[in-house]
Amino acid sequence: MKKILVTGAGGYIGSVLVPMLLKKNYKVLAIDKFFFGQNLKSKKNLEIKNIDVRKLKKKDFKNIYAVIDLASISNDPGGEKFKKLTWEINYKSRVKNALLAKKAGVERYILPSSCSVYGYQKKIVNENSKVNPLTTYSKSNYAAEKKIKKLSSKKYCVVIIRQATIFGVSKRMRFDLAINAMSEGAFNNSKIPIMRNGDQVRPFCHVNDTCRFQIMLLRCSKKKISGEIFNVGSSGCTKNVKSLSSIVKKNINKKVKLLWYGDPDHRSYTVSFLKLRKLGFKTKFSISDGVKQITNALKSRKLKKTKKTITLDWYSHLYKKNKFLRQ
Ligand SMILES: NC(=O)c1ccc[n+]([C@@H]2O[C@H](COP(=O)([O-])OP(=O)(O)OC[C@H]3O[C@@H](n4cnc5c(N)ncnc54)[C@H](O)[C@@H]3O)[C@@H](O)[C@H]2O)c1
Repeated sequence: MKKILVTGAGGYIGSVLVPMLLKKNYKVLAIDKFFFGQNLKSKKNLEIKNIDVRKLKKKDFKNIYAVIDLASISNDPGGEKFKKLTWEINYKSRVKNALLAKKAGVERYILPSSCSVYGYQKKIVNENSKVNPLTTYSKSNYAAEKKIKKLSSKKYCVVIIRQATIFGVSKRMRFDLAINAMSEGAFNNSKIPIMRNGDQVRPFCHVNDTCRFQIMLLRCSKKKISGEIFNVGSSGCTKNVKSLSSIVKKNINKKVKLLWYGDPDHRSYTVSFLKLRKLGFKTKFSISDGVKQITNALKSRKLKKTKKTITLDWYSHLYKKNKFLRQ
């Protein structure tokens, strides 16, 4: 049985990925500071460690087949508020850990970066296009990409994935992500929060799909993926924010109003997913699937919007109480 070290295992993506890995017969070492609580059920092949990723040592990577390095300050507002920490966690610590993993004999390292490194673009961009990171979050992700990509070798397969904005249900729910927030607002308040001016185009991807792809990368021939970057998402789930609100409206089946907020958002990009498809990966879940899944979970009270589901609010709350990392 191969053992996978997942950092950020208690996060939005990690809480979906870890059970999937266990189901696929991997052993998992789950590492997190569990700022959003510990949602992982204890299982035979699951080891859980509450550690700051910045403090990992070479011995933590012994007997690990692959690392999926999800831990980070995971959005733009968090990146601006906690700039120093964002550079430390998203960049410095990932570079250090990717190197420690290589030295410890780990065979694969997956860096879950973001399509936000594309920033603002007029044309369709692919993995070879010039990036344009506009925020601390995307700049630190891109800096990590550049350094870690260079570590790739015959024995050490490094893959960078640039994920679209994720949607869908997770035990560590995030209502600070566009589709999730719109679905919640429409369901609970009959209002869809929509960021000005609504023309910004973004790619989206269901949380189960990005996890499925990460697992595929553990099995893929190294030759096909080593040292490569893959955009993760689909053209079917690429929309401008206004049409996103129409999809939510259609699926919610009640009268809803648009609740405009913020200054015009300049992050707009259309991304090609051709490379992903050529590798043989197809996403399964549409935006409508995600909206239905979220509203059903809200209906059955499996999900609730709390401060914890808004990443920046929760980190700010923990910081005030001295329960978050110091900058
Ligand atoms: N969710 C998205 O839409 C999206 C899109 C593109 C890329 N990504 C990237 O995917 C990764 C996972 O995203 P997510 O949505 O699950 O984020 P998340 O905020 O839900 O999860 C991050 C996890 O990392 C943990 N963590 C943070 N700092 C830590 C530290 N110093 N030591 C140990 N644990 C620490 C947190 O407790 C949390 O559980 C992130 O790197 C994010 O930037 C996410």
